[in-house]
Amino acid sequence: MTPSQPLVVHITGARPNFPKAAPVLAALEGYPVEQLLVHTGQHYDERMSEVFFRQLGLPEPDVNLGVGSGAHGAQTAATMVGLEELFTGRRPDLVVVYGDVNSTVAAALVASKMGIAVAHVEAGLRSFDRTMPEEINRVLTDRISDLLLVTSVDAAAHLGREGADPDTIHFVGNPMIDTLLRHVGSLDVEGVAAQVGVDTSRPYVVATLHRPGNVDDPADVAELVDSVHAVADQVRVVIPLHPRGRQRLADAGFLDHDDLVVVDPLGYVEFLSLVKGSAAVVTDSGGVQEETTVMGVPCLTLRPNTERPVTITHGTNRLVTRQTLPEAVREVLAAGRQDTWPVPPLWDGQAGPRIAAVLARHVGAG
Ligand code: UD1
Ligand code: UDP
Repeated sequence: MTPSQPLVVHITGARPNFPKAAPVLAALEGYPVEQLLVHTGQHYDERMSEVFFRQLGLPEPDVNLGVGSGAHGAQTAATMVGLEELFTGRRPDLVVVYGDVNSTVAAALVASKMGIAVAHVEAGLRSFDRTMPEEINRVLTDRISDLLLVTSVDAAAHLGREGADPDTIHFVGNPMIDTLLRHVGSLDVEGVAAQVGVDTSRPYVVATLHRPGNVDDPADVAELVDSVHAVADQVRVVIPLHPRGRQRLADAGFLDHDDLVVVDPLGYVEFLSLVKGSAAVVTDSGGVQEETTVMGVPCLTLRPNTERPVTITHGTNRLVTRQTLPEAVREVLAAGRQDTWPVPPLWDGQAGPRIAAVLARHVGAG
């Protein structure tokens, strides 16, 4: 590494950013570039942040902006102020942003206004639902990015329809799946199940819930509690509960069911170990829809739409409502897990190297 090498700055901040960024940083190590890893501090609990750095072999962040939680405007603005200062002191040749969280759009806005090239990893996903903050973040980030790195064919098509220059769109596959495939062999179903008190001799379901559409409004929360309790009437449910909505769910009596095991968010390896051994997953997460697809675990997505339709057409995923969830679980438990299943194209563990090649070429290092 010499001072004359191009500077590539990676922006991370929230839990789903870390498994996406890890394979890109690792693959870019093979090129003559200097890399800087920024953590915005959007997520900060040990179990939402640090554990991923340990388990995924990510380097310590070079900079942590410590923005923390807040309303959208406050959180996005604090991130922008911090990044503008950082990029003024040390001008990057390329800023790489991941996914669709507030840290993503904040970084893209700052960099593009400073005339710095932006690469968006996981570009082009669309739920077409502007009530989701993530959809707004996706649309804006793509519009001002110079490199659009897409995980699926439908994402490339959305970008094309929106008028993106075809030369900026690169179908590279899914880096989150690189991370999954790297760890899948070392998952410890029995060990983690014992830790959280789940008996693997009987089927169990893993659930994750954090979307505003499920956990913010008390009326939605009341319905959610009834729905998940109706699932727990059939099968043991273990739920590593995201901090968002934890209090509202507790207040609505969520914890009052003998077959519902509520634990703190789990580390990446522990979470996917539980998923691997489960009969089905119930989720509103984006990344979990993708991971279950590759692991062949039936996934019931508690949302009216998904920006990841490939997990339905090529995967195990199915959309459900709070009303249809209990019956859907019954069907999935009766059907059992399939022995073989399709996997979306280029979700093959090599997305990191493909992305690194595009980034390096862009900064004249590849
Ligand atoms: C954010 C992303 C969402 C992503 C999710 C992944 C946005 C707009 N949303 O949602 O797309 O799916 O991360 O997990 O960027 N909190 C803690 N500890 C933490 C972090 C958060 O207690 O380490 C609590 C705080 O009360 C906070 C709330 O969770 O107000 C929400 O955090 P925030 O980052 O605003 O949004 P998420 O719901 O986590
Ligand atoms: N995850 C985890 N521990 C948990 C729940 C999820 O490590 O207790 C991982 C999961 O395997 C995936 C990522 O967190 O890699 C998904 O993040 P999240 O669901 O918070 O965000 P989304 O993908 O919905 O934006």
